[in-house]
Amino acid sequence: MRAYKSKVVSPIRLPDRDERESQLERAGYNVFNLDSDAVFVDLLTDSGTGTMSESQWAAMMSGDEAYAGSASFERLRESVADVMGFERILPAHQGRGAENVLYGALVEDGDYVPNNTHFDTTRAHIANNGGEPVDCPHDDALSGDREFAGDIDVEQVRALADEVGADRIPAVLLTLTNNSLAGQPVSVENVHEARKVADELDATFVVDACRFAENAYFVREREAEFADRSVAEVAREQLSYADALVMSGKKDGLVNVGGFVALRDDPALDDLHAKARERAILYEGFTTYGGMAGRDLEAMAVGLREAVEESYIADRVGQVQRLGDMLAERDVPVQRPTGGHAVYVNAAEFLPEIPAERFPGQALVCELYREGAVRGVELGSFAFPDTDRPELVRLSLPRRTYGADHLEHVAETFEKVAERRDAGEISGLEITDEPEMAELRHFSAELRPVREQETTTAD
Ligand code: F0G
Repeated sequence: MRAYKSKVVSPIRLPDRDERESQLERAGYNVFNLDSDAVFVDLLTDSGTGTMSESQWAAMMSGDEAYAGSASFERLRESVADVMGFERILPAHQGRGAENVLYGALVEDGDYVPNNTHFDTTRAHIANNGGEPVDCPHDDALSGDREFAGDIDVEQVRALADEVGADRIPAVLLTLTNNSLAGQPVSVENVHEARKVADELDATFVVDACRFAENAYFVREREAEFADRSVAEVAREQLSYADALVMSGKKDGLVNVGGFVALRDDPALDDLHAKARERAILYEGFTTYGGMAGRDLEAMAVGLREAVEESYIADRVGQVQRLGDMLAERDVPVQRPTGGHAVYVNAAEFLPEIPAERFPGQALVCELYREGAVRGVELGSFAFPDTDRPELVRLSLPRRTYGADHLEHVAETFEKVAERRDAGEISGLEITDEPEMAELRHFSAELRPVREQETTTAD
């Protein structure tokens, strides 16, 4: 149950069907092009879309906007030290800014970088620095049988080292929770294993801590050793094995923008710190603000502490589970158990008549908007061309934002889509316009519906 009430509200509206149809058409059947005021329940992302607390808003008034030596930086540094256990931080405008700072300092041409699963921007920053990102999840990660499906398979990391040589692996990464793998958690035992393999390879061990509080909650619930510990204690424990963190504050920092790199206070990391500092100044801003306003540093300092409060995190993860349950009760094929920030729907199973080349995930995303002005995001063959990922649609819940009636609306919208599916009214899609970089296709490509009889002519 929510351990908070609303004090500031933001009106939303459900546009009528004609408006929804014309929005979809105008958007080229790409929901990134929709006007957000024509979206009723926005589950596009949990990143930067949450609601801040009164303490965060109050702290913003104390923002020290000094270019150097800001008191707000000091308050953020203390918060990171208390909540995450890291002493040295370099603020950045958001997570990918932090990735650019750290991975540019770590990765060189011809390197290989293993991770449980790379998030898109992580993958892009490794590649941008000449490295090869390598995903090492367990083969049966999404079988539903694993309590910690987000874990990294360290044997795959060792096999990679045997193949390319340990000296070509500058870092081992671990993403908590594993966003690209249905937001599934990673156990503390697995964090130990990843630390151990990084030591064997003499590599830097980096944790992407975007959703560290959600991960800690799962550990407390599922890993016997931690059953009696607080989420705050688990959060510190799971991060304590890392050399460095990259953090997007837009997730478990409970803010709308911001991020940072954190480094353990260890002389062995001094060189990396010096390199990262230079890059931070070059790309983000001076090291005591790094692309953030002083007021935003303040909001994140408070947000990090709130993220590990028991009442907050139980409600947060519980809400995602409830949405998963509501959809499963309506025979929607969802990934179980649900992850920490989103419910993932298998669109190929939900819309079996639509073949992969007609983008069943994107068709489902468009139908959810058409029937209920609900916005999700496709993470299947439309977003990731030339990979054999399952046709997933992600419904991410912004933090502290929607209530039970909104979840009910999403579930009812699925019912309406199922009715249209059963009446044979849902079409697949084809791309009419796409950007040069295939990796960025789902942000800006445009599509059009294709009825089955047209499919043969189109092919
Ligand atoms: N790492 C992970 C695991 C992420 O999920 C994200 C962002 C980033 C890094 C980059 O952070 O957006 O602040 O630059 N994920 C968002 C999402 C965009 O929708 O999952 P950022």
